[in-house]
Amino acid sequence: MATYALFIWISLLCLASLCLCYGWIDINPIKYVNEELSKERPSTSLSRSSYGLALDTHAAIGSQDGLKKKDKIESLPGQPHGVEFDQYSGYVTVDPEAGRALFYYFVESPHNSSSKPLVLWLNGGPGCSSFGAGAMMELGPFRVNKDGKTLYQNEYAWNIDANIIFLESPAGVGFSYSNTTSDYNLSGDNRTAQDSYIFLINWLERFPEYKTREFFIAGESYAGHYIPQLAQVILHSDKYVNRTVINLRGIAMGNAYIDFETTIKGAVDFYWTHALMPDEIFHGLTSNCDFTIPNTSDKVCLDFVNQAANAVGNIYSYDIYAPLCNSSSKFHSASTFDPCSENYINSYLNTPQVQKALHANATSLPYPWESCRHFSLLVFLNFYFMHRNSGKINRLWGDKPLTVLPIIQELMVSGIRIWIYSGDTDGALPVTCSRYAINKLGILIKTTWYPWYSQGEVGGYAVGFQNLTFVTVRGAGHFVPSYQPARALILFSSFVNGKLPPPA
Ligand SMILES: *[C@@H]1O[C@H](CO)[C@@H](O)[C@H](O)[C@H]1NC(C)=O
Ligand SMILES: *[C@@H]1O[C@H](CO)[C@@H](O)[C@H](O)[C@H]1NC(C)=O
Ligand SMILES: *[C@@H]1O[C@H](CO)[C@@H](O)[C@H](O)[C@H]1NC(C)=O
Ligand SMILES: *[C@@H]1O[C@H](CO)[C@@H](O)[C@H](O)[C@H]1NC(C)=O
Ligand SMILES: *[C@@H]1O[C@H](CO)[C@@H](O)[C@H](O)[C@H]1NC(C)=O
Ligand SMILES: *[C@@H]1O[C@H](CO)[C@@H](O)[C@H](O)[C@H]1NC(C)=O
Ligand SMILES: *[C@@H]1O[C@H](CO)[C@@H](O)[C@H](O)[C@H]1NC(C)=O
Ligand SMILES: *[C@@H]1O[C@H](CO)[C@@H](O)[C@H](O)[C@H]1NC(C)=O
Ligand SMILES: *[C@@H]1O[C@H](CO)[C@@H](O)[C@H](O)[C@H]1NC(C)=O
Repeated sequence: MATYALFIWISLLCLASLCLCYGWIDINPIKYVNEELSKERPSTSLSRSSYGLALDTHAAIGSQDGLKKKDKIESLPGQPHGVEFDQYSGYVTVDPEAGRALFYYFVESPHNSSSKPLVLWLNGGPGCSSFGAGAMMELGPFRVNKDGKTLYQNEYAWNIDANIIFLESPAGVGFSYSNTTSDYNLSGDNRTAQDSYIFLINWLERFPEYKTREFFIAGESYAGHYIPQLAQVILHSDKYVNRTVINLRGIAMGNAYIDFETTIKGAVDFYWTHALMPDEIFHGLTSNCDFTIPNTSDKVCLDFVNQAANAVGNIYSYDIYAPLCNSSSKFHSASTFDPCSENYINSYLNTPQVQKALHANATSLPYPWESCRHFSLLVFLNFYFMHRNSGKINRLWGDKPLTVLPIIQELMVSGIRIWIYSGDTDGALPVTCSRYAINKLGILIKTTWYPWYSQGEVGGYAVGFQNLTFVTVRGAGHFVPSYQPARALILFSSFVNGKLPPPA
């Protein structure tokens, strides 16, 4: 029952589309997946205590004197005129002995920043950069122009409503690194949550004015794992030291990987209902594949997965109706998402002057900055097919529970705000996956499903469950703020202000 294997097919779609951008074709994904599958050690049940990593907050804080000032960005090369907010970036050491440090980029709100909440944004992968994707392509204040050298302002930037930290996590992603290379082999959900927590408490020491500020975590994709796990560490650590160390008020997860079984079922149903798969393959998959647990030995299922992959053709699976990146085609409008954006970001962030302005890569890392680095995690093949594999660091992703629903249930009882949102044209983690995962919780509806509005149009649909809100974004793919910036900003505003999206 090639449950994981369905991702082969999803990832094939990506492979096909992304190699246009990168000319990256020298891999046989099926062979690769099979190798990866044989290494899988699926954990079938997740005990709540496995991530109950209460940390002694005092022990983990190092001196931050003078570092805030050092991290202040004068200005980014090629940034537009009239930037009205402060920007900071630099490293926070999370393990002084190993020499492990995480890179962050922080933007304050242009107006009244001291009364606006603090938000941590996390991209997924695992192995993808919250700075390159989150800040420069999705919700940050700037986007990179085609020249790869200059920036333009994103008028729907989320720092309009909050002060936002973009964290490159874990070590090995983007500019974040460890001086102890064997650390990379210890990467996994557990380590990611702990390091992110240690990052936060040290960062708050560096920016003490934010210590009691309302705090939210938002992110997408594999951050559907990172976010609840980090929230749990925060709450457990508070309990452990018997005080509120971080004023966590809520979490938001977009097109998130939450639960394996419902992700696979959701993907299959989405592809069939969106006319991306013929009946016979759909029936082949549903009658031959067991969606509950990864199994590589099921050749019959695997065969249907391959057929499904071929049946789709060459589409951009992160946004199924979008054009592919093609450097010879023209995108004029700044309001239309340019599918080649990642290439421009890549050039920009690999420019030495840009790295200098960002206080990044001070240790001369022996590989270039990449939007995603390779971790051997099968589930998100579709993400790591984006990588050009130039890191040459063989890293293994350790623990990765098949579901984080038990953690989400625990968080629901804790009283924090929990939002799950989904762009409804994403083929990588389709909206059906989120809906099935929520249904698995079997929770009561408080506010029935309704259309919400943005600029006079339906922006999507929302439903309020007991202690959990679900919102769709109409016409958005995986990277919601990239494809529907105006709708995404309304969604984000509603989330941080604790209101459902506007019904009119
Ligand atoms: C997480 O890491 C901590 C410390 O390294 C360890 O004690 C714990 O057992 C780990 N938990 C899991 C689920 O791997
Ligand atoms: C990693 O090693 C370099 C070179 O020795 C050093 O400058 C840097 O501070 C170390 N990083 C950390 C986080 O300790
Ligand atoms: C800033 O806050 C003040 C006082 O709360 C308010 O009057 C003003 O409109 C706010 N400005 C902006 C741009 O939000
Ligand atoms: C990391 O793990 C890989 C595969 O198990 C191994 O080949 C490599 O030597 C390890 N690297 C380090 C630095 O421990
Ligand atoms: C926790 O803190 C509260 C108030 O600060 C105090 O009343 C209570 O005794 C503390 N509990 C423990 C177990 O220390
Ligand atoms: C995996 O699939 C094979 C072939 O269909 C089957 O024999 C085996 O029982 C399955 N394993 C699990 C754990 O379900
Ligand atoms: C890219 O666009 C050009 C011009 O529209 C077109 O001729 C070419 O076939 C496209 N290339 C690919 C690989 O789609
Ligand atoms: C770091 O800088 C070195 C040059 O000193 C460069 O070769 C490398 O690509 C850079 N790496 C990253 C991750 O920015
Ligand atoms: C919702 O939260 C309340 C209060 O925190 C709790 O008593 C209740 O059990 C929660 N319900 C669910 C379904 O999580």
